[in-house]
Amino acid sequence: MAREFSSVGVVGLGTMGAGIVEVFARNGIDVVAVEISDAALERGRATLTGSTDRAVAKSKLAEADRDALLARVDWQVGLDALHSVDLVIEAVPEHLDLKQRIFAELDRVCKPEAILATNTSSLSVTEISVATTRPNQVIGIHFFNPAPVMKLVEVVRTVVTSADVVADVEALCERLGKVDVTINDRAGFIANALLFGYLNHAVGMFESHYASREDIDAAMKLGCGLPMGPLALMDLIGLDTAYEILDTMYRRGGRDRRHAPVPLIKQMVTAGLLGRKSGRGFYTYERPGSPVVVPDEQTPVATGSALADGARAIAKVGVVGSGTMATGIIEVFAKAGYEVVSVTRGAEKSAKVCEAVKTSLNKGVVRGKLSEADRDAALGRVTWSAALDHLADVDLVVEAVVEELSVKKALFASLDEICKPGVVLATTTSSLPVIDVAMATQRPADVVGLHFFNPAPIMPLVEIVQTIRTSAETTATARAVCAALGKTGVVCGDRSGFIVNALLFPYLNDAVKMLEASYSTADDIDYAMKLGCGYPMGPFELLDVVGLDVSLAIQRELYLELREPGFAPAPLLEHLVTAGYLGRKSGRGFRDHTNR
Ligand SMILES: NC(=O)c1ccc[n+]([C@@H]2O[C@H](COP(=O)([O-])OP(=O)(O)OC[C@H]3O[C@@H](n4cnc5c(N)ncnc54)[C@H](O)[C@@H]3O)[C@@H](O)[C@H]2O)c1
Repeated sequence: MAREFSSVGVVGLGTMGAGIVEVFARNGIDVVAVEISDAALERGRATLTGSTDRAVAKSKLAEADRDALLARVDWQVGLDALHSVDLVIEAVPEHLDLKQRIFAELDRVCKPEAILATNTSSLSVTEISVATTRPNQVIGIHFFNPAPVMKLVEVVRTVVTSADVVADVEALCERLGKVDVTINDRAGFIANALLFGYLNHAVGMFESHYASREDIDAAMKLGCGLPMGPLALMDLIGLDTAYEILDTMYRRGGRDRRHAPVPLIKQMVTAGLLGRKSGRGFYTYERPGSPVVVPDEQTPVATGSALADGARAIAKVGVVGSGTMATGIIEVFAKAGYEVVSVTRGAEKSAKVCEAVKTSLNKGVVRGKLSEADRDAALGRVTWSAALDHLADVDLVVEAVVEELSVKKALFASLDEICKPGVVLATTTSSLPVIDVAMATQRPADVVGLHFFNPAPIMPLVEIVQTIRTSAETTATARAVCAALGKTGVVCGDRSGFIVNALLFPYLNDAVKMLEASYSTADDIDYAMKLGCGYPMGPFELLDVVGLDVSLAIQRELYLELREPGFAPAPLLEHLVTAGYLGRKSGRGFRDHTNR
């Protein structure tokens, strides 16, 4: 028989605590909500009232249920009020000494059978537990932000946590409608161990002016389908909390440099820019605690004119190549009203590409997304050719040939001879340095990367890669073209992985390392990222879709260029590729796909 929890205590009613109070009270459990001062208590109460009022306004909660929910909460200053609860969850700031002090006090105040839980994200639950005389009744219950919304709970058992306590807490999570994964006490558990290196890396990109905050966030939302970009997520977590988590993970997790907090984070914390809770972090919010972003001095100014910033007018576009990307890109430009010259290496290939574009456009017609007239008009705009000479009068060339530097360089040298002056020459490379391609021409200022995502007609993102020789006009032209295509163009520097792959693949690689270390299972790791962080797919699902060979190649490039020890490909990934387990395409990767 699982233990009955009829009343619980929550200590600390900040970003997490107030949400945790709501989770319990919503599920019919009485809560004693404790803060350090009347002012902090009021803030916590206001957070809960605001959240439940919003739920009522959205008809997600009946007024009577809201009133009953609020009536279950007993607001108190000081820990003494917790003498008769069955379970306490502590959610005070991420400092070991503070948590240890509170646990020693809870041990004194609470009844002997009460379970004492911490919501810590990165500190050692074991170290917290030894501040009490009942370490076998101490456990980690790690909720995700926002607690009422995110389904996941990481249940963290230490070497001394009793099996009964673990089972009781697992049953409680189920009663709360949460999905739990039970794991051992390791810095960052599953989700944060995989998340925070990525967040810190994104802050580093912003700090070094590699890309703007809007572009970094848009890249990860649109390129990976994440619910929010990394900088917006830092603001939600709170920069002070994020700093402490990174710092602890750095110290506890093997001094991985990727967890050493980027200096900007500390500076922002010192300046009081804590994120949403203080009204300003990477973004500026309507008021403290509000999720509504308001414009500030960093907000890009909408110019109102597509040709602002010296962007050149583009009417005719050449697309070189005959693969999946070239095919998709031809379709995208033709549908957007551009005249397109498709150049392949022979009539046969041209016929194949033409057929593929037709098939794709026809699908659009069948699905009611495109009229027959628009399909015919789009096809009518494309000229099919096998001679580069036909690119003599285009305004923009998009190269999408095989991913080999020598081939691309030879092509760009030819384009340099054939194309008229002022043409923008773009490469769709996803891994080669754009500057190498640019220097094969006499006009590197006109060369830029246009990294489309697959399938190009569907994916809304394009990374615009500017080299150290790319002119401002060329970048402005690329931006204007992306906007005209209905895509979001994000501008970044010419470094391996650009924005999306540089942030995504190390995280995937870390997940493989976590599996390899037998810390958790592929299923639990996938759950953790989907249910704790709102990712559309877990890392192993995604790796199997992308292909393990492709993922390994990208990870190797990142490692070779940046020499970051933490980027070294996971041996397990290498072994699976060697064994021919490449993911869905070979029937087996991290999972067996033959019977699915
Ligand atoms: N922010 C997140 O996204 C997130 C997610 C999961 C877990 N966590 C973890 O939850 C815990 C709390 O983080 P947060 O972001 O909610 O912090 P926060 O700074 O938003 O809130 C902490 C609250 O604790 C109160 N407090 C401080 N000392 C206290 C005391 N002695 N007694 C009672 N209350 C006290 C503060 O007044 C404040 O309201 C941390 O361990 C953190 O790692 C945070």
